[in-house]
Amino acid sequence: MATPRHALFALDPAATTPLYRQIYDRIRGAIASGALKPGDRVPSARALTAELGVARGTIDAAYGLLSAEGYIEARGQAGTVVTPGLKHRAPVVAPRLRSEPAAPSFRPDTVLPLQMGLPALDGFPRKIWARLGARRARATQHIDMAQPPLFGLPALREEVATYLRVSRGLDCSPSQVFITSGFRQTMTLVTRAVLKAGDRAWVEDPGYPPARRILDAMGVRVAPVPVDSEGIVVAEGVRLAPRAKLAVVTPAHQSPLSVSLSLPRRLALLDWAAQSGAFIVEDDYDGEYRYVSRPLPALGSLDREGRVIYAGTFSKVLFPSLRLAYVVVPTGLIERFEEVFQVFAGDAPELTQSIVAAFIKEGHFARHIQRMRACYAQRRAWTVAGLGQALGPGVRIDTQPGGMHLILRFPGRWSDRRLVARMRDDGLYAEALTDWSVQGNGSPALLVSFTNVTSHDEAKALGTRINRLR
Ligand SMILES: Cc1ncc(COP(=O)(O)O)c(C=O)c1O
Repeated sequence: MATPRHALFALDPAATTPLYRQIYDRIRGAIASGALKPGDRVPSARALTAELGVARGTIDAAYGLLSAEGYIEARGQAGTVVTPGLKHRAPVVAPRLRSEPAAPSFRPDTVLPLQMGLPALDGFPRKIWARLGARRARATQHIDMAQPPLFGLPALREEVATYLRVSRGLDCSPSQVFITSGFRQTMTLVTRAVLKAGDRAWVEDPGYPPARRILDAMGVRVAPVPVDSEGIVVAEGVRLAPRAKLAVVTPAHQSPLSVSLSLPRRLALLDWAAQSGAFIVEDDYDGEYRYVSRPLPALGSLDREGRVIYAGTFSKVLFPSLRLAYVVVPTGLIERFEEVFQVFAGDAPELTQSIVAAFIKEGHFARHIQRMRACYAQRRAWTVAGLGQALGPGVRIDTQPGGMHLILRFPGRWSDRRLVARMRDDGLYAEALTDWSVQGNGSPALLVSFTNVTSHDEAKALGTRINRLR
């Protein structure tokens, strides 16, 4: 290796930036500056673990990220090298400035104004929930106190299948529905069921970071595929990674740009999957929340070849701390998922599942979604108008037909990461679009949620606070 290791890897254990990120930044910086050139060897993960005295997982996380972003490549016996021809394949972006804040957590344990990822917390019918909860708890029999059924409570699998047939146009039976503890567990199980280490998978760029991180952590080589106004650019995916075995997409409202995947793209994606034997994960986290027309049918409703694995969650339509989600698999994969669940899953609490099953069966679920759709349309309008007034005509607010957040774009040169850090210090929440982009070539933007904004005045006051921080 051209650069002395100690100079390259002088780490600061006291810094707020995690160690893996420091290692990642050092190597990426060395590549950007030319100190490490395409084809140069980087130290093996084992050697670096010993040398730096950090956990092996720390090095693996840094190398995983560098590999997912195309900077380095494992060459088996020959070791790990800076990707040959890197300049042509993945533009080297400048290393992040020292003063640039690190990406904040995607699972914050706070509730701040404009916080993404939360439904309207004041809109949940807590009385009904409490009544059903008490009733289900009272009805507990001995059998209910034993192990929960491995693939999910039959009553819930049935309710979910019925709901998806009616609301999302999915032709599925309860045996295809498996209950999980959230989208991340779903992704872990899907990866175990249909991929092996070294396989490639498409993810959207920009896209939901946890999806990318899970694949990466499980040894899958991630291919970031750009997104435009029609959703994921399928032709680019085919060009970048034609032999990928999986594509993870958010067709209803692309996360985070909120555009819907157009019909031609849906058909192209299904075609590619059918022809190449790949699977598609349809992450339908907020498909119900569309404000200009009826919700679009799920991508899975067009699937005739058994390629779509549908991932749903109760985090948006009920609430995230519930930790309940589901995955609907093509009939050809039922046995495989049953095998995987026997080893790795089956832990969703039975009582919670039974309360949700009753909530759906008794019609509260459908009523709640309908009420929330109207509530969000109103809150979205307040937020767009209030923020717009406070931030002035220079700011662009992207309003797509659906979703649960807005995208704010300010004129001129600015750093979304820096503004997000200032907002967090001031007790306001936002996420930086830059943190959702892999190639780092997306323009800066703020992602803010409107779901808990309860008036036009509140939105305007929040806008005034953001304006002071710009
Ligand atoms: C794109 C996307 N997918 C899935 C989820 C749901 O994740 P979970 O079920 O783990 O709460 C979210 C929640 O924020 C999301 O934004």
